[in-house]
Amino acid sequence: MLKEAIATRYITPLREGGSLPGLVEADDLGTYVMKFTGAGQGRKTLVAEVVCGELARRLGFRVPRLVTLDLDPVLGLGEPEQQVQDLLRASGGTNLGMDFLSGALGFDPLAFQVDAAEAGRIVWFDALINNVDRSWRNPNLLMWHGELWLIDHGATMIWHHNWPGAEASAARPYDAADHALARFAPDLASAAADLAPRVTEDLLAEVTAEIPDAWLADEPGFDTPDDLRRAYTRPLLARAAVIHDRIQGIK
Ligand SMILES: Nc1ncnc2c1ncn2[C@@H]1O[C@H](COP(=O)(O)OP(=O)(O)OP(=O)(O)O)[C@@H](O)[C@H]1O
Ligand SMILES: [Mg+2]
Repeated sequence: MLKEAIATRYITPLREGGSLPGLVEADDLGTYVMKFTGAGQGRKTLVAEVVCGELARRLGFRVPRLVTLDLDPVLGLGEPEQQVQDLLRASGGTNLGMDFLSGALGFDPLAFQVDAAEAGRIVWFDALINNVDRSWRNPNLLMWHGELWLIDHGATMIWHHNWPGAEASAARPYDAADHALARFAPDLASAAADLAPRVTEDLLAEVTAEIPDAWLADEPGFDTPDDLRRAYTRPLLARAAVIHDRIQGIK
């Protein structure tokens, strides 16, 4: 399970984020980027953040540490902005926090260099999780202390929005033409050779165990949170073996 903390102060909204993530302080004295269960995109966005973030970390990528943040909606009462108040009011209970990388710069593909090996690993990983949100328009990559960090895995694994069609959906190719790192000659063959064998059933079981039960309850077609955890495992396991040959748009 992810480490648990309690949100103690809402500092400010992060203006760039479509889902209105906020900066908060917690009882462990940490400062976190908080993503809310009450946001329009709902709790599946948060599940995707946990599954893909924790998988990425275990495959050796740099990802901000994730925690659960318990929110008392009372925290929102003093907020001057109606939108923020509504969001906090709708998000009582378990939410997601990620370490705030203070001073990080947004990655700009025209301003920074990435080597072919690292570009290959990131593009391969995004193909695995079907990330549609790492384009040059919106890279969702941060430069922090001279290194590249991955953030924002909310718009991934599209198949979890329609479980009956998941197998067919996960068999589809990945179009990397607009990927933020497409211009760095990503070495996909080396990335696949190294990473694909490491995406095992055991690793995925470890990763899905990190998803809070509260975000898995009452999913139509699943009796228990663990059934749903297994459903998250299957498409990723199947895709890891074949996705290298199904990445389109990279020369
Ligand atoms: N851990 C972090 N440390 C520092 N800054 C962050 C962190 N996470 C997010 N940010 C900043 O906040 C912005 C919004 O975060 P994020 O992309 O995760 O939110 P989002 O609502 O999913 O965004 P969108 O869907 O618009 O891409 C990022 O572009 C980045 O500038
Ligand atoms: Mg983003």
